[in-house]
This record gives sequence, structure tokens and C-alpha cells, in this order.
Amino acid sequence: MRYRKLGSSDLQVSEISLGSWMTYGGGVDRERSEACVATAFDVGINFIDTANVYSGGRAEEFLGEVLADRQRDSYVLATKLFFPMSESDRGLSRQQVVKQIDASLARLRTDYVDLYQCHRYDWDTPLEETMEALSEIVRAGKARYLGFSEWPPEKIAEALNLPGVEKFVSSQPQYSMIWRGPERDVIPLCAANGISQIVWSPLAQGILTGKYKPGEPPPADSRASSEQMNYFMDSTDDDTLLKRVQQLQPIADDLGLSMAQLALAWVLREPNVASAIIGASRPEQVSDNAAASGVSLDEPTLRQIDEILGDSVRYEGSAS
Ligand SMILES: NC(=O)c1ccc[n+]([C@@H]2O[C@H](COP(=O)([O-])OP(=O)(O)OC[C@H]3O[C@@H](n4cnc5c(N)ncnc54)[C@H](OP(=O)(O)O)[C@@H]3O)[C@@H](O)[C@H]2O)c1
Repeated sequence: MRYRKLGSSDLQVSEISLGSWMTYGGGVDRERSEACVATAFDVGINFIDTANVYSGGRAEEFLGEVLADRQRDSYVLATKLFFPMSESDRGLSRQQVVKQIDASLARLRTDYVDLYQCHRYDWDTPLEETMEALSEIVRAGKARYLGFSEWPPEKIAEALNLPGVEKFVSSQPQYSMIWRGPERDVIPLCAANGISQIVWSPLAQGILTGKYKPGEPPPADSRASSEQMNYFMDSTDDDTLLKRVQQLQPIADDLGLSMAQLALAWVLREPNVASAIIGASRPEQVSDNAAASGVSLDEPTLRQIDEILGDSVRYEGSAS
């Protein structure tokens, strides 16, 4: 496993990191979840991403339990706030920042997180209030560094220009072979300001592994077949995309890579990406994906991928 520096922080994060959206404390059973985390450490993953809202707090609780016996400085732990935790608890007001960090730390059974991220931009709270509250918790030692996810570029720039507050070191956008929205504005702005990308759904939730075949029902043991985990999957009936993804298989074969490794190496070709945050429902996926670290793709390969995916690639829009 190779490691990259996270923005202007002193954190070194593994190129492949482990996420916990919908899986741990959620749709993946306890035994498999534990095996995924254990395998992650075995293959050199040192970076774990979660959020207060994942499975209503149960992802953080699960991680708190399974990480309890590991030395706290042997891994980099990231969580987030913004999405509703109750009818009245949501957003990035000072009151929420102060409340949600303590609730996350209690579930995670730790005194600090390495990275505290704003899951989205809060249009109902003045930016100054959010940044001052986040700076307070950094100064109190509850979070070492700050990040954001899917913020509009103008708000990222505004935050960077605020005096007297901590600076962001990470950005968490959706980014993959078929979702290239961050390339236009977010990546250049971040690269110029000491902010790295840690990217979500680098496998497009499994679509880029080639497991979803055009004209066929999704495999029974896949995310698309799981009622607990498929509610954000909307491309598994796009046969044009699925056909094009199948055409990537010979490229992966020629390079001796799995399809997942090809997709992850593609994301890691971008120097502003510090880590690709994978999801995994079984430990074999963790080791398969981890082996993408250190793989470099040459220009002709990248061109071939672009040609095959054609207009299935999206360059506009961000997650809501
Ligand atoms: N900031 C945000 O708004 C945001 C949003 C979404 C996610 N995230 C973060 O990003 C992380 C990753 O997102 P994601 O889970 O959508 O990522 P992903 O890596 O694109 O998809 C993960 C899923 O793909 C399948 N898979 C993974 N490796 C595979 C392999 N080698 N072979 C075959 N199938 C494989 C598994 O599903 P099955 O085995 O069930 O098919 C797995 O659960 C999340 O856990 C979370 O931490 C953040």
C-alpha cells in the first residue's frame, strides 16, 4: 500500500481507504463487516471514513467497537456532520457542530477524530458561524483537521479567505471514470490551496467492477439487489453504460488487473486525489481493491477508456 499526504495536513493516508456508508452497522452482517475491517488493516489501509448519519449512528458505533483494541494513532479516522440526526438536529450551526462532534466521539469511543467533515454546505447558517465553530473544536483537540464534501466552489473559496479560522485540508467529492464533475472547478481550486480529494463511490457503487451485465438482473448478492443498500443506485438499468463497462474488461485483462483495480487506478492517476474511499461487503473485495495502489495507467490506456465510455461520462453537477 502506498500513502499520500492529505492536503496541507501532516496526515499520511493510504491510497485506498475504507468507507462505511450503508454497509457496516447497516446492510452487511456483523461477521463480514468485522472481516472487512481486519483485512483493511492487513493490507495496509490506515484511513477509515464514516459519518454520524450512516445507518443512523450505527456505522460509528460499529467502528467504535471494532477499533477499540487498536492503537489510536495507528489509523486515520474521519467522520462528518450535516444530514439530519433527528427532526431538530441537522446542519452546520455552532450549536450542531458542538453537539454532533461530542455524539460522534462517544459512538466512536475516542477523544478525537483526525478529520471532521461538513457532509454538505448549509445554506441556512452563515459560513463564518460554521468555520468559527469548527475551529473551536480543532482548538479543543476534538478534531485534528477539517474537510468538506460536495461544497460549491465559491463557498470553498469564501471559507479559505475567512481570517482567523482553521483551513480545510480535504474535499470529499463523488469521482470515478463515469463521474468527473470535480475536474472542472473543485480539483484546480483545491490543488492551489493545500486541499486533497478523498473520493467517494470510486467504483460507482460496484458498476465499474463489471458485475452488472446489460439485459440481466443484478447478481443476487450485489448492492443493487439489496433493499437495504440499493436506494441510491440508479444506473443499473442503463444498458448503454453497462455495455460500455463490459468493453473495459479486455483492457483490465491485458494489464493483469481486476476491473475494480482498473477503476481505482484511474481515480488515483489524479495527483490531487489522496485516497479512493471504497465500500466493501466482503473481505476479498478489500484486498482486491487495495492492490490498485501503486498501479499506473499510461496515456494510451486512459485514452482508450475515454473512447469506450464516451458520453456515458458525466462532467456536470454535484451530489445533493
Ligand atoms: N460524502 C458523501 O456524500 C458520500 C456519499 C457516498 C459515499 N461516501 C463514502 O464513500 C465510501 C464508498 O462509497 P461506495 O460504497 O459507494 O463506494 P464504491 O467503492 O464505489 O462501491 C462499493 C460497493 O461496490 C462493491 N464492490 C466493492 N469492491 C468490489 C470488488 N472488488 N468487486 C466487486 N464488487 C465490489 C460492493 O458492493 P456489493 O458487494 O454489495 O455489490 C461495495 O459495497 C462510503 O462508504 C462512504 O464512506 C461519501
